[in-house]
Amino acid sequence: MAEILTDSDADLDLAAGTLRAGALVAIPTETVYGLAANAFCEAAVRQIFAVKSRPFIDPLIVHVHSLEQAGTLADISHPFVKRLAEAFWPGPLTLVLPKKKIVPDLVTAGHPTVAIRMPAHPVARKILQRADLPLAAPSANQFGYVSPTTAQHVQDSLGDRLRYIVDGGRCDCGVESAIVLVGDNPVLLRPGVISRERLEACLGVPVALGKGLMETAADKGMLAPGLLKKHYSPRTRVELFEGVPAEENAAGTAVVWQRRPADPGAGTLSKNVFWLSEDGDQTTVARNIFEFLRRLDGMGFSKIYIERSPDGGIGTAVNDRLSRAAAKL
Ligand code: TXA
Ligand code: MG
Repeated sequence: MAEILTDSDADLDLAAGTLRAGALVAIPTETVYGLAANAFCEAAVRQIFAVKSRPFIDPLIVHVHSLEQAGTLADISHPFVKRLAEAFWPGPLTLVLPKKKIVPDLVTAGHPTVAIRMPAHPVARKILQRADLPLAAPSANQFGYVSPTTAQHVQDSLGDRLRYIVDGGRCDCGVESAIVLVGDNPVLLRPGVISRERLEACLGVPVALGKGLMETAADKGMLAPGLLKKHYSPRTRVELFEGVPAEENAAGTAVVWQRRPADPGAGTLSKNVFWLSEDGDQTTVARNIFEFLRRLDGMGFSKIYIERSPDGGIGTAVNDRLSRAAAKL
């Protein structure tokens, strides 16, 4: 099992030193836990793919401590970069930008662009500053499984293949960063808690909803559809509902509501009934969704039956993850 490190100075030095030495460390971010390596060290980056069983065609996000550091990796001259960075960095937003030669092709899966993010989590920021290296870091889960939002989730998924996990508490956002392809016509490649609406308000131009690289690869027949659709999937079958669930009381089915359902009489709600928030607040729903998927996956249900979020705002990001969790092979 991996050793769990704290945010003490000594532990953060150990984490940063390990990264500088070319080994992997799982680190907290405000979105989900990441499996970090020195982005310049190809051997270390290769380890990320091996530990996650991730296909090499799926590029990694590089984490930086400053816009200046981002400028060493990518062309940051487009005026939208400064505007988005001023509004949302540090924070759960990833920018896809033309890459500089110094970034290994392994990190970008051979693409001419690199995905860059400046995380807001104080522990991630301290590690980035101490290591003073750009850190390539995908979510710290087995490829295809639910992303981790606690150090224990990382331990459960990858603990036998890792030396250190830095514990930074529960992730605040709970879903991965929004990814924007920067250009005169920006494209949202993955929805996150920074919504399309907020991005449009910041930039003053429409932000198109686009397909991610993996979906595009699947469309072109370059990827086995099963590999893609398995994303975010628990082992238990997931189905979604809107309005009224068709089989609320089926034995073996966990029913998961957006908000706490009215209790017909004190304590008479079935043990199979769960809720993602008290009042439907989508920030809370996003924070809880992966944690619920993991927890329910371990409870022996034959089906997890989840109410979809309302579309728009953060709900779009939750529904994106839910539809993938529910996709059939
Ligand atoms: O919140 C997050 O972004 C988390 C934390 C750890 O920072 N990281 C994360 O990484 O979600 P990962 O590997 O699970 O997702 C990275 C995704 C890739 O699957 C790909 O879709 C997209 O980022 N991506 C990476 N590089 C890209 C590029 N050059 N062009 C387009 N999409 C890219
Ligand atoms: Mg991931």
